[in-house]
Formats: sequence, structure tokens, C-alpha cells
Amino acid sequence: MSDLTFGPARPGETEDLLLLLKRAFRVDPGTERERATHRLVRSDLAQFVVLRDYGEVVAAAHVARHDLRVGEAVVRKADVGHVAVTPERQGCGLGTELMTRLHPFLATEGYHFARLGGLMPFYSRFGYEPFPRRYLEVTVPDLAAPLKGRTWGEWLAPTSTEQRSVRAYCPDLDGPDVLRLGNLRPLALALVSPHASSLPLPPPLRPLSVVYDHGGELRAFAWAEQEAPTATASGNLGLRQLLWDPAAPHAAAALVRHLLHHAAQRGLTMRTRLPYDAQLCEALTADGITFELREMRQAVDGNMVRLIDLESLCQALAPEFAARLRSVGLCPRSGLSLAVGGRTATLPAGLVSGLPPVRVSQSTFLRWALGLETPAETNPPVPPEHRLLLLVLFPRFACVSDTWG
Ligand SMILES: CC(C)(COP(=O)(O)OP(=O)(O)OC[C@H]1O[C@@H](n2cnc3c(N)ncnc32)[C@H](O)[C@@H]1OP(=O)(O)O)[C@@H](O)C(=O)NCCC(=O)NCCS
Repeated sequence: MSDLTFGPARPGETEDLLLLLKRAFRVDPGTERERATHRLVRSDLAQFVVLRDYGEVVAAAHVARHDLRVGEAVVRKADVGHVAVTPERQGCGLGTELMTRLHPFLATEGYHFARLGGLMPFYSRFGYEPFPRRYLEVTVPDLAAPLKGRTWGEWLAPTSTEQRSVRAYCPDLDGPDVLRLGNLRPLALALVSPHASSLPLPPPLRPLSVVYDHGGELRAFAWAEQEAPTATASGNLGLRQLLWDPAAPHAAAALVRHLLHHAAQRGLTMRTRLPYDAQLCEALTADGITFELREMRQAVDGNMVRLIDLESLCQALAPEFAARLRSVGLCPRSGLSLAVGGRTATLPAGLVSGLPPVRVSQSTFLRWALGLETPAETNPPVPPEHRLLLLVLFPRFACVSDTWG
């Protein structure tokens, strides 16, 4: 017999939740993991959902709200983590019950899709599909090491223009220009602060935020963060955001090179999540930066996504779809029907419809919607009229992001 209820964690449940997480994840006392678990539960209690049996907390999950800017639109992702069932009751269906109740709850909370990392055989039962992770791995050379009669430090030394142009970011002075750069090359997946008004705010002042200022004209902005060392690596410098004027990709490359020096001087690696951008890749190579592009397709245990509400996701994207259609002279009216993972929605279209719906997987649709892949790459079996329209609706985006896994 059981009497299960589901909902957001309540303030009085803090200690029970902590105990559950520590036991389910076998967190040893006195470790950094224990401190991190305490910090998370105490600061983010409202972001936990729990399953109770006769009022006792028996299962839980953490849901971080990530509002992602996609051009003119904002879409809401649930980043699900810390899925846990109290050890004595594992294997009895409570994890299944928690996940089953979670998704209708996320829909009522306005989430458009969810992401998590975990065992695929378990989460695929609830509709999750594998989703790629992409990385740019910059080779950080030993600056003193020789190469063809010079040192790496000499090969990568900033030019006099760069020395004059690269400086620390100052929000008061540069904020409006950084926002303008963001609009020139709209970011997919830039996190929007949940507390921000609908107007985008410039990035705050943080260490390792730099700009390329060419005689008073801001050409690029970068923000990097030093990640804590792990047992196997001495630390990584993660590029969190990179914006640049499309007419000056060399400015973005100069900022990456500036950060590369920072990493080299501290023995850090430089690995960052970065959807591929051909223009940036060319500029990095031209500026002497060696890098690898990696797409990780995980199996068994890895990154997964699931649509929560296809229709409201399409509604949220509607202003951006309309802008894209207008940019090629199409009027956003009549609909193009879409079938994704058993759900349907209608996209604005500039062409007469009446054609069969475009059928794609959830993972594919989300890669399109987030600007990570275009329909030209996916090549779905659709009539030529659809193909053209899909290419207009789903361009590849240039973006830097740490937000999808
Ligand atoms: C994973 C977990 C939430 C599943 O909850 P549960 O109540 O035990 O699961 P259910 O009884 O509903 O379903 C059992 C299924 O979960 C699978 N499972 C067990 N451990 C798992 C794990 N660490 N991750 C994912 N699935 C797991 C089992 O293989 C089983 O599959 P089967 O039905 O094919 O045998 C729970 O076992 C747990 O808290 N584990 C420890 C914490 C953890 O590893 N969390 C997952 C983070 S991804």
C-alpha cells in the first residue's frame, strides 16, 4: 500500500531531502561532494521536486530553470539532475513514478523541453532521446617550447594592434556595445537571467571578461571561467561566451589567443562547449590557434533531451520564425505542420501549405530549434517546397554555450 503525492519540496523537508540525496548518491561525510550537496539543497530548495509516500520524502529530482535566448525568442529548458530514490525503496517503481509525474508538472510550469544526463535505457522509457555534446578543444602549447627556430610564445605573441585593442570589459562603458554585438550575431543558448526584464541585460563584471576595442569601436567580447582542478587535470579554462562583429572575426580570434596565454601561463587546458562556427574556425586558424572540434555522441550513459510542450515551444519561437521569414521576403502566415515524437504543431510558413507534415525526432527538432544543426544536414524526406522553408526557419547559429549538457 502506498499514498504517493508529488510536488515542489517544502522548507520543512530540507533535512529529509539532504539525507535522501546523500544516501542515494553515497556521498561520504566531510567531502567536497557533501558540502556541494548541502549548498545545492539549502540555496535551491525551491528547485527540487519530491515524491512523498504518506508524507515522507521517498524520491527527488532537481530542476534548474534555464531560459535560453534564441534570437528574438526565449525558450525554457528544464535541466534535470539529482534524480534519486531512497536506497531501501529502489527498484520498486518509485523512480518511474517520479519521472512520470515530473513531465506534466514541467508543462504546467511553462517548460518547453528538458535535458538530463543519465542511463539511457532508464530515461528513454520516459521519452528522452540522446543529444550530442560539442566541444572545441584549444591546444595550449608550452610557450617556451621551440618550433622552427622560434618559441611558441613568440609565434603566439600579440601583435602591437592586439596589445592596444584587447582590454578588460567594463560594463558601464561597453555594455550597450556588447548587447549590439549579440544582436549582430544572435546567440542561441545564451542564458537569460530569470530575474531579468524582457530587455536583455549586458553581461556583469566578472574576472576574465575581455573586449577587443579598435580605436573606440567594440569588435568582440569574450568571457572565460577557470574551472576547478579535478583528479586528472590541473584545471580548465572554459570559454563561456564569445561575441563578435561578423565583419571582424579576427577580433574574436585575438581574444581567444589572449585567453590562451592565460591558460598557458597557468598550465590549464582550454576546453569549451561550442557549436561549430565556420567563420570562427577560419579566424582561429589564421591567428595561429590549433584546436580540435569534437562532437560527442554518448551511448548507454549520457546527455538526453525530451520535449515537454512542442506547441508552446513553437509559440515561443514564433517571433523569431517571423523575423527569419521576413528576412527573405516571406510573409509569416499559413502553416507548415510538424510531427515530433508523437506530437504535432504548426509552424508559420510563407508558402501555401496542404503538404504532409514534416516528421522528425525530438532530438533533431531541438538541434534545429537551438541552431546546432540545419535541416540541410539532417536531410529529412520532405517535398522541395518544405525543404526551402525549413532552411529559412532553422539556420545554424553561432554561439558559445555551457547550457545544454
Ligand atoms: C536511478 C533511480 C532513480 C531509479 O529509481 P528506482 O525507483 O530504483 O527505479 P524503478 O524501480 O522505477 O526502475 C528500476 C530501473 O531503474 C534502473 N536503474 C537502476 N539504477 C539506475 C541508475 N543509477 N540510473 C538509471 N537507472 C537505474 C534499473 O536498471 C531498473 O531497470 P529495469 O526495470 O530494466 O531493471 C534509483 O535507483 C536511484 O536513486 N539510484 C541512485 C542514484 C542515481 O544513480 N541516480 C541516477 C542519476 S542518473
